[in-house]
Amino acid sequence: MTASAVPSASGDPGLGVLRLPRAIVLGAGQRHALGALVAGIGRRVLVCTDERMAAGAEFEQVRASLTDAGVRVTVWAHTEPELPVAGILRCVEQLGSTTVDAVLGLGGGSCLDMAKVVALLLAHGGQPSDYYGENRVPGPTVPVIAVPTTAGTGSEATPVAVLGDPDREMKVGISSPHLIPHLAVVDPELTYTCPPALTAAAGIDAVVHLVESFTAVRRDRSPTLASERVFIGKNALTDATALQGISLMARSLPVAYHNPEDAQARQDVMLAALYGGISLGTAGTAAAHALQYPIGALTHTPHGMGTGCLLPYVMRFNLPARVEEFAQLAAAMGVTVSGTAADRARAGIEAIDALVKAVNVPSTLRELGVQRADLPAIARHSLASVRLVENNPRTLDEQAALAIATAAFEGDLSFPAP
Ligand SMILES: NC(=O)c1ccc[n+]([C@@H]2O[C@H](COP(=O)([O-])OP(=O)(O)OC[C@H]3O[C@@H](n4cnc5c(N)ncnc54)[C@H](O)[C@@H]3O)[C@@H](O)[C@H]2O)c1
Repeated sequence: MTASAVPSASGDPGLGVLRLPRAIVLGAGQRHALGALVAGIGRRVLVCTDERMAAGAEFEQVRASLTDAGVRVTVWAHTEPELPVAGILRCVEQLGSTTVDAVLGLGGGSCLDMAKVVALLLAHGGQPSDYYGENRVPGPTVPVIAVPTTAGTGSEATPVAVLGDPDREMKVGISSPHLIPHLAVVDPELTYTCPPALTAAAGIDAVVHLVESFTAVRRDRSPTLASERVFIGKNALTDATALQGISLMARSLPVAYHNPEDAQARQDVMLAALYGGISLGTAGTAAAHALQYPIGALTHTPHGMGTGCLLPYVMRFNLPARVEEFAQLAAAMGVTVSGTAADRARAGIEAIDALVKAVNVPSTLRELGVQRADLPAIARHSLASVRLVENNPRTLDEQAALAIATAAFEGDLSFPAP
């Protein structure tokens, strides 16, 4: 861990909560270890993936590793981006009476979340909508094995599945510690085929996970906080993973974007994305995510492009409540500035500005296709994500959300006015 991850001697480290997969195996080539690892969980596995992945050499390697270890494999290769509910139900229906001991998600966040929801429905039945929201999953699911092929969502470690429901305007989430995968196999070689735009969108979303987890609201320590809430806010244990992740991203996300074959950069970014998942899985995200949901519904632009575009403006809004944390982020990103804590905090925000720019994430909502007339509705709808709004370190009301969205629309980095 970086030196700045150590809480100051005088500071109260507060509550620490960490919820994790039972095992995480990280490293180049570790997909070949899947057979032996999965055989320790069960003998029949459903693999949820998508058509692009199923046509590739890596899929065949994974299948061979499983079958060589005596695991019987059933494949669902029709996972769709953004995970529409109908596709999830089709997969469960097609499985029919076939029994499986585990569900393996192989692909980007959509395939991992597919595996989570299918495993949930196989264990508890019903419809996905029965479980929308927090802590509504009644018990353990069929074990999930997560094998990410993008470095971004961190879903391999999170208690969340995000899906698209045509009855809802915005994407919906199911959040429960029961959704945390049993096993995560994180092999950076699987990301070598990600084109730069996907590397950027996924990677910058992980940056937002790391920053929002590290700067989330800090709740009063209570004996019930860790059991009542899935997302408890800033806490001592995820502070360490978040700072470590941001440090890796600052060093390697631009390298992975410009040089997709750089093995060290790919490994750094994948590890940082995993840290992002671990951090957000307990701390939770905040305003940038709340504002992105209506923007995503409106513009159909990748989630990471929206959250990444918004982050510099959200940080400026949150600055008064997070001076020390932004200064720590600057240090973790290798920015050394002398001066007051406020100077160092500003340097932290500017380091994030530079990282967003380095991977060509749009710097204004206008570039994402938002019109000025959309801004009031975006601000209003962002408040519907109560969990995210309440997790922000500064009060986010409609006026504040509109101010952030307006600054992001105009590209006004002098926001808020001094
Ligand atoms: N569960 C969570 O904790 C969590 C967190 C953040 C986001 N999400 C969700 O995850 C989804 C986004 O996931 P994503 O960004 O990983 O993208 P994705 O899974 O939606 O995939 C996007 C596209 O990238 C392709 N792709 C995936 N891996 C590739 C590779 N190695 N090479 C080339 N192409 C590849 C896919 O085939 C697909 O066409 C969204 O639905 C989002 O809401 C979930």
